[in-house]
Amino acid sequence: MTSSTKQSRVWIGRLQVSHEPFQLRYYQVPVADGSESKAMNHFLDIHKTQTDELRTILSSANEMKSRRNGQPKGMPDQDAPLAGRIVALIFEKPSTRTRVSFDVGVRQMGGQTLVLTGSEMQLGHGETIADTARVLSRYVDLIMIRTFDEEALLELAEHASVPVINGLTNQSHPCQIMADVMTFEEHRGPITGKKVVWCGDGNNVFSSFAHAAGQFGFDLTFTGPETLDPDPKALAFARDKGVNVEILRNPQEAVTGADLVVTDTWISMHDSQTAKERRHNQLRPYQVNDALMAHAKDDSLFMHCLPAHREEEATSAVMDGKHSVIFDEAENRLHVQKAIMRWCLGL
Ligand code: CP
Ligand code: NVA
Repeated sequence: MTSSTKQSRVWIGRLQVSHEPFQLRYYQVPVADGSESKAMNHFLDIHKTQTDELRTILSSANEMKSRRNGQPKGMPDQDAPLAGRIVALIFEKPSTRTRVSFDVGVRQMGGQTLVLTGSEMQLGHGETIADTARVLSRYVDLIMIRTFDEEALLELAEHASVPVINGLTNQSHPCQIMADVMTFEEHRGPITGKKVVWCGDGNNVFSSFAHAAGQFGFDLTFTGPETLDPDPKALAFARDKGVNVEILRNPQEAVTGADLVVTDTWISMHDSQTAKERRHNQLRPYQVNDALMAHAKDDSLFMHCLPAHREEEATSAVMDGKHSVIFDEAENRLHVQKAIMRWCLGL
C-alpha cells in the first residue's frame, strides 16, 4: 500500500454531526489491491457510539462471559476471534485494571499484545501523534490508549487506519462505564429509568456516566462541591436526551431513593497534588459511608471504578458491605472490553 492510497482514506457511513471535529466513527480503509476492507469502528466515547451499538457490545460481553463459565483465566476462547491479530496497549498514565484486563482479554481471544508506555516510545520524545498513528497502523490491528488530554486520543484516531479505543483520558473513561452498566444490569436488570447518584468530584469517570445516562436512559444526580462541578457539556448531552439530571449540594438529599451510588478518587491522575488538602476538605462531606447509604434504596448498589482510597471517598464498611459490587465491576472490564475489541474489528 502506498502512502498516497493510505492517505486517500474513504470515509463513509453515519457521520455524527457535532461541533467537535473528530466525530467520524465508521470508515473503510483502502487495501493494497484497491478494494476496501470491512468497515471498522473507533470506540472513543459513549456519546459518540449509538445506543443500539452499545447494546450490541453489552450482549456480546454477557455472552462471552457466560461462555467462559469458570474456565481457567488463561484458557483461550473456543472461537479465538482475535487469532492472528496484534493489539497495541499504550499507557501514558499508570494502570492496573485497564492494563491487565485488555492484555488478558486479547490473549483469551487468541490475539497478541504489545504493552507500551508513552515515555519509552518516541511519542514521549517529540514524535507527533499523527506520525505515531500512521506507523503503528502498519504494525498492529488495533490500538488502545490511555492518555492525558482527549485531543491526543482524537488525533490518534484521526490518523490511524486501525481502530482506536479510549482507555481513559482526562475527560472520559468509556470502557469503565460500559462495565458499570453491565454490572448494574447483571444484578438488577435494565438500568433504563433507574436513579444513579454520583458523590464527590465531577471528573472524567462522571462525564462517561453522564454520556451513559443519555444513551441508556437513566436519571443522574451529581452531589459534590460547586468548585468540582462536572463538565457542563456532558450534563447537556444527557439532558438533551431527555433524562433527568440534577446537581444537589446536600448528599443525603441526593442519595435518597438511589438505585446506584457511585464515587471515585478525590484526586485523579491528571490533578495536581498541590490541591490535595483543599480538595479533601471540600469533598469530605461527600464520603460514601453507611450513614449516607442508608438514604438510598434498600437494594441499591455501590460502585467505584477503583483504585480506591479507603476511608477517604468511601469507607471500607461500604466497599466491603452488602451494597458493594466493586469487584464484579472490575471483572466486567475484561468481558466488556473483549466485546468492544470485537465490535471495533467487526468480528
Ligand atoms: N478503573 C481503572 O481504570 O483502573 P486502572 O487505573 O487500574 O486501569
Ligand atoms: N478519575 C480517576 C479514574 C482512575 C481509573 C483518574 O482519572 O485518575
